[in-house]
Amino acid sequence: MLSDKDRIFTNLYGLHDVGLKAAMMRGAWDGTKGMLEQGRDGVVNAIKESGLRGRGGAGFPTGLKWSFMPKESDGRPHYLIVNADESEPGTCKDREIMRHDPHLLVEGCLLAGFAMGAHVGYIYIRGEYIREREALQRAIDEAYYAKLIGKNNKHGWDFDLYVAHGAGAYICGEETALLESLEGKKGQPRLKPPFPANVGLYGAPSTVNNVESIAVTPTIMRRGAGWFSGLGRPNNVGTKLFCISGHVEHRCNVEEEMGITFRELIEKHCGGIRGGWDNLKAVIPGGSSVPMVPAEQIKDAHMDFDTLRDLRSGLGTAAVIVMDKSTDVIAAIARLSYFYKHESCGQCTPCREGTGWMWRVLQRMVKGHAEKREIDMLLDVSKQIEGHTICALGDAAAWPVQGLIRHFRHEIEERIDLYSANPQPAEEPLQAAE
Ligand SMILES: Cc1cc2nc3c(=O)[nH]c(=O)nc-3n(C[C@H](O)[C@H](O)[C@H](O)COP(=O)(O)O)c2cc1C
Ligand code: SF4
Repeated sequence: MLSDKDRIFTNLYGLHDVGLKAAMMRGAWDGTKGMLEQGRDGVVNAIKESGLRGRGGAGFPTGLKWSFMPKESDGRPHYLIVNADESEPGTCKDREIMRHDPHLLVEGCLLAGFAMGAHVGYIYIRGEYIREREALQRAIDEAYYAKLIGKNNKHGWDFDLYVAHGAGAYICGEETALLESLEGKKGQPRLKPPFPANVGLYGAPSTVNNVESIAVTPTIMRRGAGWFSGLGRPNNVGTKLFCISGHVEHRCNVEEEMGITFRELIEKHCGGIRGGWDNLKAVIPGGSSVPMVPAEQIKDAHMDFDTLRDLRSGLGTAAVIVMDKSTDVIAAIARLSYFYKHESCGQCTPCREGTGWMWRVLQRMVKGHAEKREIDMLLDVSKQIEGHTICALGDAAAWPVQGLIRHFRHEIEERIDLYSANPQPAEEPLQAAE
């Protein structure tokens, strides 16, 4: 269990004052000038050495990403973009940083901006996060007033920081859709390459990072890369915010050591599984986009990128959705399918058509009103979507369905058998892809 001295987010629950003075007493903005004095390469190398992997879902090494930004400006400005869209179902960690520990994020923006040669940063915040935007703006205003950021600030690196408020579309969390939206256009992902580090916001070099990724960097610099990389397991280091929801005794957000086992996470922080461990059915370990893992495989698994990848799932955003035996897993995945169908931006045919197709079939499967051969058809359609689209929303829609079929095919079949033995009168005809 992570000891209190190793916690980065010491006001995660909002028990203390959020203001600048109190944040400074907790350690924020301590030694920031000294960090910048290490130079761009010094900061980038320290973040590389710390082993920090992006907290937005894919786990891409943060220092490496920063190093992709051009060393010198060719006349175009450089931009730091912070992704605060946080729309992945089950995820509610960036929200807590922004409303309770916003100064760590503001300080992280200055540091990251400096490391990538950016004098301007944008924080793109989810449309529904109104109070969070207000808290964040207050912290930014305080930082300007105290000359911690802005022109001619105490740290010697001019840096302006703006908050841009989204309008509530999941797809605007995808980094290139976010850039389009920031530019005032419809939030539709761009084809890559070119990558944002070369052609990003307004065609200028840009880097998009998650809130948590940026907010942990000042503490890493303060305490040393070795401290951060000493927590967790090889290639999966540091502390991590977990958002635990579903059928546990107490749902919570908690900062823990990366790689903690699922059992320890749930026992220590959530008071166990509702109805006991034998009542656990499956877990979605990283937000709705990752495949579920059945109870026997997850119980003692390490909650980190590599272990969960080996279980054919993922750490994603570390939004842990726990399902006990009362859960209708077919209905749960059908509901997620509806979400992806609704959020598809419609640019790519496999995603636009496939998400609706999967949802319609799954809806029938919830009732058992389907044919068994359709299970393989559904799997096949999910594979035609996966990897064949502009952005990863297609994969995100396909993976939960694949996880369901991989682990709970028998439940779909049993339901079809049950329905065939007792078909409901006046049922609508079988609906396939239109
Ligand atoms: C459909 C979709 C939605 C996404 N939503 C978010 C989001 O809300 N927040 C986020 O940080 N990353 C989100 N991402 C990932 C971003 O594209 C990007 O990889 C991430 O912000 C990079 O940050 P990191 O390197 O710090 O992890 C999303 C990706 C996809 C495909
Ligand atoms: S995969 Fe879906 S959401 Fe992503 S660009 Fe294509 S249609 Fe839009």
